[in-house]
Amino acid sequence: MTLLLPLSIRKVRNIAAVLVGMYATSRILENKNYIQHGTTSTYTHCRNVAYVSLQLAQKFHWKVDEHSLIRGALLHDYYLYDWHDRQNRPRLHGFRHPALALANAEKTYALTPVEIDIIKHHMFPLTFFPPRTKEGFLITLSDKLCSLYETLKLNEHHAAKCRSCDFKSGN
Ligand SMILES: [Fe+2]
Ligand SMILES: [Fe+2]
Repeated sequence: MTLLLPLSIRKVRNIAAVLVGMYATSRILENKNYIQHGTTSTYTHCRNVAYVSLQLAQKFHWKVDEHSLIRGALLHDYYLYDWHDRQNRPRLHGFRHPALALANAEKTYALTPVEIDIIKHHMFPLTFFPPRTKEGFLITLSDKLCSLYETLKLNEHHAAKCRSCDFKSGN
């Protein structure tokens, strides 16, 4: 995503801080075991979405709730299974997983209305209702860009930048 400028060190550190906090308080590391697109794990995908959503906010000069944007990005696919595994995934995964991710996230955290909007509506327009917040809109866009890059394996250069906000766990 060369049209998007890299994030400042402060923003990268903000993503890292939220991620590290979640290691101890959630099951987010399990997402390293589940593939999202191509060879990209769900964990890495969510981290990429957080990074790109902040890049988009920067590009559009939008003032956003950065903390909720990062948390929403990291939890937007917190459904905790591999959707390629036909035996263990629910039917209609594409439509149902935002609600499953939200239920899991709500078991773990008291979510802000912005975080709920992000998780619930990130699959728009596949799911009927659009996001109601700027942050929700940024995640729907960032999610689609990252999904495209990950599926087509276009993200090697970009992935290297995203890794910078994940100094502790590597990949
Ligand atoms: Fe999703
Ligand atoms: Fe996603």
